[in-house]
Amino acid sequence: MRITKLTEKWILQTAEILYKEFADIDAWPDMDSAIQEVQESLSDNRLSLIAVDGDTVTGWVGGIPTYGGRVWELHPLVVARKYQGQGIGRLLVLELEKRAKELGGLTLWLGSDDEKYQTSISGIDLYPDVWQHMRDIRNIKNHPYEFYQKLGFVIVGLMPDANGFGKPDIYLAKRILG
Ligand SMILES: CC(C)(COP(=O)(O)OP(=O)(O)OC[C@H]1O[C@@H](n2cnc3c(N)ncnc32)[C@H](O)[C@@H]1OP(=O)(O)O)[C@@H](O)C(=O)NCCC(=O)NCCS
Repeated sequence: MRITKLTEKWILQTAEILYKEFADIDAWPDMDSAIQEVQESLSDNRLSLIAVDGDTVTGWVGGIPTYGGRVWELHPLVVARKYQGQGIGRLLVLELEKRAKELGGLTLWLGSDDEKYQTSISGIDLYPDVWQHMRDIRNIKNHPYEFYQKLGFVIVGLMPDANGFGKPDIYLAKRILG
């Protein structure tokens, strides 16, 4: 398994993973939208890395510079179903972190939606005690926020109802250590 920069020849395979893994929430409703997302990650200022096993793309992570390059948004991250749970997601995030640091980044952050009622902060009205709900969050059905916590990310905020009532977005950030 190697981590390498995404190039033109891997676009279709990468888009297929994105399309399939997010099919249940309709984030990329068809292959065209998935291909467009992957193509956009090839913009000059961005980072776009894939995990490759032989000739097969197994995962993808993208990074977008914000705040003058001091803060990098991780978007998106996906590992193909049959390769999940083998440490590929961790490898991709750590490599993104390393490269963002080399480019002057201090922080990596992301929003991780809860559209499928996977945590204790979904399906309910979070107002007015938003912070208390955030502090007491529990993972009910394998929401990936815990994956990020294992890599050193901390929950820094949330957006109630980001994806409809009771479907928040969870914000996580990590100081980049290189
Ligand atoms: C979330 C995702 C990227 C994780 O990638 P992965 O390669 O399966 O994860 P890894 O094998 O590197 O896991 C690293 C650690 O996180 C844990 N972990 C992984 N997914 C987890 C989850 N959903 N909930 C809790 N812990 C999780 C693993 O058990 C492992 O723990 P360990 O170090 O104690 O053994 C992958 O499952 C995925 O692509 N899911 C679908 C798309 C998605 O949700 N993307 C993220 C959107 S924000």
